Parts: sequence; structure tokens; C-alpha cells
Amino acid sequence: MLHKGRWMLGPLLLAGALLTGCGTQSGHDEARPPAEADAQVQPGGGEAIGQPQGGAAEPAPSKPEAQTGASGAHAEPGKTGSATGQSGAGGGQAAGNGDGGAAGSSGKPAQDAAEADAIRVVAKPEAISALVNKTNKLPDSYKPDDLVDPDVPFTFKEKLEKRYMRKEAAEALEKLFAAAKQDGLPLAGVSAYRSRETQAALYASYVKRDGEAAASKYSAKPGHSEHETGLAVDVTASNGKCAAQNCFGVMKEAKWLDEHAHEYGFIIRYPKGKESITGYQYEPWHLRYVGVDTAKTLVQDGLTLEEYMNQGVPVSQPKR
Ligand code: DAL
Ligand code: ZN
Repeated sequence: MLHKGRWMLGPLLLAGALLTGCGTQSGHDEARPPAEADAQVQPGGGEAIGQPQGGAAEPAPSKPEAQTGASGAHAEPGKTGSATGQSGAGGGQAAGNGDGGAAGSSGKPAQDAAEADAIRVVAKPEAISALVNKTNKLPDSYKPDDLVDPDVPFTFKEKLEKRYMRKEAAEALEKLFAAAKQDGLPLAGVSAYRSRETQAALYASYVKRDGEAAASKYSAKPGHSEHETGLAVDVTASNGKCAAQNCFGVMKEAKWLDEHAHEYGFIIRYPKGKESITGYQYEPWHLRYVGVDTAKTLVQDGLTLEEYMNQGVPVSQPKR
């Protein structure tokens, strides 16, 4: 059962421990602060607000090749067929840049300009297969209009925005969690939807803590996070252990997700070994809903969403 969630998007207040390496807690002392913790952004008054790209683990942001074309051209997900596929986001200068590039390097302004040029705006952000990553940005005003509260356990009890997901994804998540539980590996949600404001606060906090280059390997800039689509969710074991931390990768729950998530329409969005394509380090906990058919194809062909879409989702040129 989903709980329709219509909540007021009140002023966001950064709760004390804004992030902390993982989900809810510390993790500061970890050598490599894992990925996205989830910002404890508290919705102003009552409930949380509700509101993806790029996976998570290693640098090298890929570069979408800008399917400029205005809006119209609704190219269907370019099934590249083979794994070769245009390394999706890959294309361009991806590599070195993205990660905030060498902080402080003398060529920074030029680099910033080049990066800005490479950004494209996702023309159909509501598409279940929307490709959001380091080069494909969500429209500034985008907020999914069908966010609901999935009936699954989370690592926190509060009704925060990060519980929410788009209806179709939420229903699929309920099925995924039920199946995992049945197999003896109950899961818990850590962080799902994030508003642009939440992602901005989260990213800024990571940059402050680790510097831009490091932060960009595991956290998306505002407008570039799949969490803003309501189609992504970070999950962990029901005991909350290793939430959004690398140690989750060796847990049985991670293995189970790797083997079964696609059956419910989810993919491990930032897989190991695909860092140069997704632009992010390996994140075994970050699930992205793409629908069962697409998820099965991606897994079967060993493709990232970048490779699969091959920039199939229309984007428009950014304003300069
Ligand atoms: N950790 C992923 C890349 C995000 O911030 O959306
Ligand atoms: Zn995530």
C-alpha cells in the first residue's frame, strides 16, 4: 500500500549532522567516505518534501552527447545492442573533468566553461528511462508529481522527503522488498527522493568535507542526481548496517540485489568497473527504477543506462 504523499515543501532546514558518510551516521572517520549519505534535510514544517543521474563511483563523468534537438525528437532508448554502445554519458571530455577537475588548477575557468557547455537539459524528465547524469541535467523547475510513500521500512521513522518515490517505482520497491524478505534478507530504505534544494545542500556539505574532486566521485551536483527524479533509492540491510557505505557491497543483501533487482525493474545504477561511463564510483546500494523490461535488457547485455540510452532521451541545449 502506498501512502499518497502530498506534503508541503516547507523551508528546508539542515539538521545538524547533515550528512555523515552514510545514511544516517557518521562514517566520517572512514577513509573514503562512501557515497551519499543522506542529508538530514528536514522539511520545514510537517512532512518532508518530496523529489536522478549518474551513478556513483568513480570519477570520470561521462559525457552525454547532447542530443540537442530540441524537445521533439523523442528518440527511443537507443538500444545499442551490444555493450559497446557509445559509452553513453561517455562521449565527450568526460574523463578528467567532472570531478571538479583539479581543484585550483590554473585552467579552472576554462574548464568550468567547457563543462557548462557540455551540460544538456533532459527534455522528458518524467520518462521512466530518463538519463540523468553528470552531463544530463534535470530542468530547474522539475519535480515529479506522483510521489508517494512506499510501504517499506526505512532506516528512520520520520516522514521525511527521502521516503518518497514516484508511484510506479514505489510499487516496484514494495515487491522487491517483499521478495528479499521472503528470501531471508529483509531490506530497509535509506534515501529515496530528494528535492533540488536537498541535493544542493548535500553536495555542498560533501564538497566542504572532502573537496570538490573527491565529492564528485560519489555525489551529484544539484539537478544531476537521480534522486531528484523520484526513481532512485539507496537501500541497505534491515539492520541498517553499512548504509550507503562500501562495506554494503560484501553483504548478502547486496549480492541478492545484484541478482534480483532487475526482476522488479531496478538496476544497480553505478556498477563496479563502469565508473568511467557512469561518472561515479561503485554504489551497490543505489537502485534506479527503469521498468522491468529495460532492467532485464540492461542486465542481460551488461549495459549501464548511459550505454543503453545512448542519449536516447531528448535533451535541449542549455541556455547560455
Ligand atoms: N550518489 C549519487 C551519484 C547521487 O548523488 O545522486
Ligand atoms: Zn543514491
